[in-house]
Amino acid sequence: MKTRATEMFGIEHPIFSAGMARVAQAPLVAAVSEAGGMGCLGGVSFLPEALRAEIERIRATTSKPFAVNLLLPDSLTSDDDDQWRPVRELWAQLDPTDRGKMAGVEPLLTPGAVRGQVEVVLDAAPALVVLTFAAPGDFIEECHRRGIKVAALVGSTGRAIAAEQAGVDLLIAQGTEGGGHTGYTGTLPLIPAVVDRVSLPVLAAGGIVDGRGLAAARALGADGVWVGTRFIASPEAFGHEAFKQRVVQGESRELTLTRAYTGKPLRAFRNRWTSQWEESATQPAAFPGQYAVAGMRVETGYQDGDLEWGMMPAGQGISSVYELTPAGDIVRGMAAQADEILSSLA
Ligand SMILES: Cc1cc2nc3c(=O)[nH]c(=O)nc-3n(C[C@H](O)[C@H](O)[C@H](O)COP(=O)(O)O)c2cc1C
Repeated sequence: MKTRATEMFGIEHPIFSAGMARVAQAPLVAAVSEAGGMGCLGGVSFLPEALRAEIERIRATTSKPFAVNLLLPDSLTSDDDDQWRPVRELWAQLDPTDRGKMAGVEPLLTPGAVRGQVEVVLDAAPALVVLTFAAPGDFIEECHRRGIKVAALVGSTGRAIAAEQAGVDLLIAQGTEGGGHTGYTGTLPLIPAVVDRVSLPVLAAGGIVDGRGLAAARALGADGVWVGTRFIASPEAFGHEAFKQRVVQGESRELTLTRAYTGKPLRAFRNRWTSQWEESATQPAAFPGQYAVAGMRVETGYQDGDLEWGMMPAGQGISSVYELTPAGDIVRGMAAQADEILSSLA
């Protein structure tokens, strides 16, 4: 299946695995790229030197192109002490055991770390950098000078238009069905609306777990798909077995959209922790302050496998994820099924 997205990177299938923080580490990224898609490293949870090492680990396994995800809102790239002080104060109040669980994975709570990530990524020059929450023009220009393409992950037509104007090369439009941070418009109405308003290639995201989703995305005008949740259920993904099994066995009604984790709406499994948060009716602290309080919840889920008190992002596509599948097989199976559907419809 040739599209503008496969042509842009010289890849076989227009299937991109999402840069899921913690979940998408070198083994998953390399497996997806090796299979002819494009893997994206969940770059946000690596301190700069660890990020450099993880990129080297990908390159030691595959020579195929891959992507790295970064978050570059001003609140993370700023040097302003006044902005960081409340975040550090909230972080200092956390139980030391909980803080300890995040040792090594706290770049979003470490002033200067995100700028360090930027230097590492510019230096390593992956084929693609995927930006979430913000797409700063000067960073995009610097990427282009180094031959790096840039994509922006958006959840609305307004954001898509702004990202195109900022100079990105590719858009990822994610419907509310998606796991992790997400907007309020469904994938079905969002993709055609974005495709109508921009001239860049668009990847569809949110609720896509198989070739039926890829075929539908193509019918809506997308040049490919960006898939998160389906790849959690793969042996290459990082995460506790209990979390992966929950994705395999879960139904979409078990999910909720919560601000408990970062203060921004995020789709995840509803459990005792998210319910307790919603019932408390507490206002979340401004980003990334809320993450200083709740970031360790992901470790409770991913490291300890605690399904009741951990934070486990997942999308509505879980209802049709039935087994753990090697990531390369997910890519090849999705491509083959979409080809079959599209040719039978023709
Ligand atoms: C476990 C998990 C972690 C995620 N982490 C990130 C992240 O660090 N950065 C990001 O831009 N998106 C993140 N997302 C969102 C994905 O990039 C992607 O847009 C989404 O998973 C697509 O929808 P789907 O889950 O239905 O496939 C995450 C999603 C999941 C499920």
